This record gives sequence, structure tokens and C-alpha cells, in this order.
Amino acid sequence: MKELKVLAVVVALTLITYWGVEPYAHSEMHPHVDAPNYNYTDVDGLNGMTGNAENGATLVQSNCTACHSITTQGFPPLMDNASSAAAYGVVPPDLSTAGKLYNADFLAAYIKDPATAAKVSHKFQDGAVHPMPGYSWMKPEEIADMVAYLQSIAPKEMTNKETFTDACLRCHSIKYGDMKNGTMAAKTPNENIKAYMGKLPPDLSQYIRSRGESYLHEFINNPQKHLEGTAMPRVGLTQDAENQVVAYMEEVGDSKKAEREALGPKFLIYLVIFAIFAWLWKASKWRDVH
Ligand code: HEC
Ligand code: HEC
Repeated sequence: MKELKVLAVVVALTLITYWGVEPYAHSEMHPHVDAPNYNYTDVDGLNGMTGNAENGATLVQSNCTACHSITTQGFPPLMDNASSAAAYGVVPPDLSTAGKLYNADFLAAYIKDPATAAKVSHKFQDGAVHPMPGYSWMKPEEIADMVAYLQSIAPKEMTNKETFTDACLRCHSIKYGDMKNGTMAAKTPNENIKAYMGKLPPDLSQYIRSRGESYLHEFINNPQKHLEGTAMPRVGLTQDAENQVVAYMEEVGDSKKAEREALGPKFLIYLVIFAIFAWLWKASKWRDVH
């Protein structure tokens, strides 16, 4: 009778932990957030307009190349990384691939008003201004033309590494990506990016392990969801580009994942064979006993 009472207490405590405490702790430590929104429906984007790439070429070349290189179109950087980081706080990205990386509506909204589109207006108050001027004074057609131009020059295919490099490397290092040559160090020197962001963006080599894939997707799509008030801008990637960025983080931080997962079924087969032998062995021993 006593044993039964002890059992009942143990079962009750286990169930309370399993259905009460654990889910509660989980929801406190990992609050549920909405799924990523790759349509960027909250921004004032293209509003259904399709631009003219030819007009856009002139507009982009005259408005943007003072700060941004577009190397594939013959506009090299005007300064080295150290000087442009000193001038703008962060090395402005090369725009050769922007039309592939960024959602078109997001891109239009970013050109009009970078801080609002990137959800970092809270960083630019009391006289602090975003290093990229907004172009909301331009006609919506002209903004659409520039987006059409950027899309027309963007490559159709990019590797995961190229995607990461163009989307994230101006702020973040991912040093395990290339330990030997050090080419995956952040483009902006630490002291500049720290002064600009208020904090050193972390090296992302191991974030696939410490945060996991779904957190990364939610965070990259909208950093404010998990870290309210964070200085990291929403980068506005398309779903494809974001998948490539996370795939690259996995290649670098968890390169053995496929191997590890392939081991699972093999191990189960081994256990089954082992169980059969164990059973045969037991049967043979007991045969002698009886
Ligand atoms: C005065 C310099 C300057 C000019 C002019 C400028 N930009 Fe920028 N731009 C920047 C800087 C600096 C950043 C990086 C800001 C950051 O990451 O916080 C940036 C970032 C960007 C990004 C990256 C957006 C993202 O989500 O990561 C795009 C795209 C962009 N600019 C497009 C343009 C286009 C198109 C024009 C011309 C219409 C333009 N910029 C003009 C300085 C400039
Ligand atoms: C303009 C600079 C900038 C760019 C571009 C940028 N980040 Fe960040 N990122 C930051 C800063 C600053 C932080 C630190 C935020 C904090 O702790 O509040 C950060 C933090 C992070 C974190 C850590 C979040 C956590 O839970 O601690 C991850 C993951 C991350 N960024 C991924 C990315 C990826 C992937 C890209 C490219 C798609 C990217 N970032 C582009 C500035 C940037």
C-alpha cells in the first residue's frame, strides 16, 4: 500500500513538471513570435508599380555611387573599407547583388526611408541621422525605376557564401568560414562598427548551434521580434536569400550535420542486429538451464 502511495506522488510530480513547469519555462525563455513575413507588407514599398530599368540606371548611377560601389557595372569603391567606415560608420554594401538579395518592396521602402524600413528609427533620434539619406522626395515612379534597375543587373544565381558576404559581412565576421586567409572577417573595422551600432556585432561562426535555425530565420527577418530595441537593422532579405544565409551559417558552424544525421539509421540497424544476437544468446543459455 505504501509503495502505491509513493508511486502516486512520483507520478503526480512528474506530470506537473511535464505539463506545467516545463512548458511554462519554455514559453518564458522562448516567447512565441509570429512566423517570418517575407512579403514585408508593413512597408511603404512599390505599391504595385513596375519600374523602367533604363531610367533607373541613370538615377542609381547619379544618386548612389558616391557611397556604394556597383563593381559589376564598372563602379568601383571610391574609398578603401577603412576610410568609408570612418566616413559612414559602416562600409556601405556593393549594390551589384541588391536586386537579388532584398525583397523589392522592402528595397523601395529602404531607399525612401532607410531607418523606418530597417526598424531602427529608435537609434536615430535627437539629431542623430542615418548615414544613408532617404529619397522620399523622389517620385514613386523613380524609386520603382531604381529597383527595376537593381533587379536587372543582379546575378540570377549566387552561392550561399556570396549571399552571406553581401548581406551580413559589412557588420558581422564569420571567421570559421575561412580561418586560413581571414577573408570572412567583418568589412567594417571593430571600432567603427561599435561606435555606429553601440555594440560590436557578434562573430556568427557558431550561431547556428547556439540559436538554432528557426530562431535565426525569425531574427534575421525582423530582429526586433526577439531583441526589442536592438540596433541590428532588419535587412529585408527575400526568403531564398535568407535560406542561403542560414545554409551558409550551417556549412560553417555545423559542417558535420549531414554526416551525423546519416549515422542515426545505421546505428538503429546495428541495435536491431545486436538485439537479435542477444536474444539468441539468452535463448541458448536458458535451454541448458531447463
Ligand atoms: C551618403 C552615402 C549613401 C548614399 C548616397 C546612398 N547610400 Fe545606401 N547605404 C549607405 C550606408 C552607410 C548603408 C549601410 C547602412 C546600415 O547598414 O546601417 C547603406 C545601405 C544600403 C542598402 C542595404 C540595405 C539593407 O537592407 O541592408 C541598400 C540596398 C542601399 N543602401 C541602396 C542605396 C541606393 C539604391 C542608393 C541611391 C538611391 C543609396 N543607397 C544611396 C550609404 C549611402
Ligand atoms: C548594420 C549592421 C548589421 C548587419 C548588416 C547585420 N547585423 Fe546582425 N547584428 C548587428 C548588431 C549590432 C547585433 C547585436 C545586437 C544586439 O545585441 O542588440 C547583431 C546581432 C546579430 C545576431 C545575434 C542575435 C542574438 O540572439 O544575440 C545574429 C544571429 C545576427 N545579427 C545575424 C545577422 C545576419 C545573418 C545578417 C545578414 C543577413 C546580419 N546579422 C546583418 C548588426 C548587423
